[in-house]
Amino acid sequence: MGPLGLVPTWISAVVGGAVLLMLARACRRRGLPAVPLRLPLLALLAAVVVPAIPLARIPFGSRLWLGAIDDLLLVYASIRLAVWLALELPGGLGWWRRPPDLLLQLLMVGGCALGTVVVARQTARIDLVGLVTTSAVLTAVIGLAAQEPLKDLLAGLELQLSEDFNPGDLLDIEGGARGVVHSVSWRETSLRNMEGALVVVPNTRLTEGVMRNLSAFGPVSNRFEVGLAYDFAPGRARSLLLRVLSQHPLVLDDPAPVVRLKEFSESAITYDLQVWQREATDRAIVDLRSELLEQIWYALSRAGQSIPYPVREVQPHRPSVGTEDDRGPTPEECREALAANDLFQGLVPEDLDRVLASSQALSYAAGEAIVQEGARGESLYQLLRGRVAVLKQVQPGHTVPVAELGPGEVFGEMTLFQGAPRSATVRALEECHLLRVGRAGFRELMERDPALIERFAALMSERRAKLESLSRDQRQEQTNALIDTMKRLFFAFTGG
Ligand code: CMP
Repeated sequence: MGPLGLVPTWISAVVGGAVLLMLARACRRRGLPAVPLRLPLLALLAAVVVPAIPLARIPFGSRLWLGAIDDLLLVYASIRLAVWLALELPGGLGWWRRPPDLLLQLLMVGGCALGTVVVARQTARIDLVGLVTTSAVLTAVIGLAAQEPLKDLLAGLELQLSEDFNPGDLLDIEGGARGVVHSVSWRETSLRNMEGALVVVPNTRLTEGVMRNLSAFGPVSNRFEVGLAYDFAPGRARSLLLRVLSQHPLVLDDPAPVVRLKEFSESAITYDLQVWQREATDRAIVDLRSELLEQIWYALSRAGQSIPYPVREVQPHRPSVGTEDDRGPTPEECREALAANDLFQGLVPEDLDRVLASSQALSYAAGEAIVQEGARGESLYQLLRGRVAVLKQVQPGHTVPVAELGPGEVFGEMTLFQGAPRSATVRALEECHLLRVGRAGFRELMERDPALIERFAALMSERRAKLESLSRDQRQEQTNALIDTMKRLFFAFTGG
């Protein structure tokens, strides 16, 4: 007979199982913590099967344990359900903080141990407490308590309760361990380091030593130094560095990048650079730093500056003989590129010389912004080597690619001829060499060759049409998204 002796046990078990399954389904649908099913269903099965076994035919010792099994399963299942009901479910409903896994596991182990003592005493007449207190087991447990595993277990519990860090945070632990938190277990915390290796640190090292959580407040700081020449005025140096830092798409605007003059060193003025980025891994930090340093080198070389190095002894300078690709563009290359451009067809050699006289050959690193959308400008660029992407901002913080340009193509003509701010950002996709032609170079050419302006006007109207169709498409996309949201809300309200 089942509860109260009124209903057969198997009927109670079936009803209990069905209730549990329905509860599990409802929780899954609402995204609540999963109902523990395995242990309770096993306990219900044992409650039906064990009484049906013909006990008379089984030896006394085994009979005793068989009798205890369904009681034990019932006790374990009740403890599991109680933990779920008292801690996990309220945590999932947002009534209070979700309890750490380690605490749940400890409660289960403690509860089950207590349940085992009680069941062993009642069904098998075994006094486990007496056994423990009078035997060497007690000595072993006390010995264990004083040892590292128990300390690590308590430290792990403390870490999970304190919320000093979460999986995914970047930690720097006293003594050299550093990496992204992978998991916290009973004994240790696992990190994934820059090389992709798993670093296992005993929990006590985190609670007893100094631990720095580098991503506790969201963005991660990326800080490094650069030494620049003494003849490069700090005001100019700072604005060049800030321009490179703030133009990188992975550098956050808030907190804004900072450049501080750190010290007058032996052979350079040292600047301390600090930027903030979203991705909290050592690899992302090192990658961004490398890209910024590379872009700084190119920006310095465009400004006619270089990175000084300590001079210890005087040596004759032997220029390295690079391949053609290593060297920047020669004046002949610039001249040939202009002559081959259809936009400049019809220009006589003297005209080309005039354009070249007001131009400058420049190099840019991969990823650098050559022109920035919204900025003012006075020049047009002819690509000599490398490829660039034209990017249009469609929403704050969101840009879409409009076109890709390669050797022989020009950009920047819209601002040069119309005086309006740059219509798009143009970013180097790889190392690029280009010719920057100033407005002055064009004045006489336009008087001499009226068709030049027509050719540029045709190019500009084609490009503008593409930019405008892009914003039309974008508007349509936003309208469609709005319609979807309105439909969803409407049907949710009306229950359709
Ligand atoms: P400007 O507005 O001075 O600066 C951004 C440049 O991007 C712009 O001039 C053009 O040269 C270029 N650009 C804009 N739209 C396009 C497009 N649709 N295709 C190619 N280049 C473009």
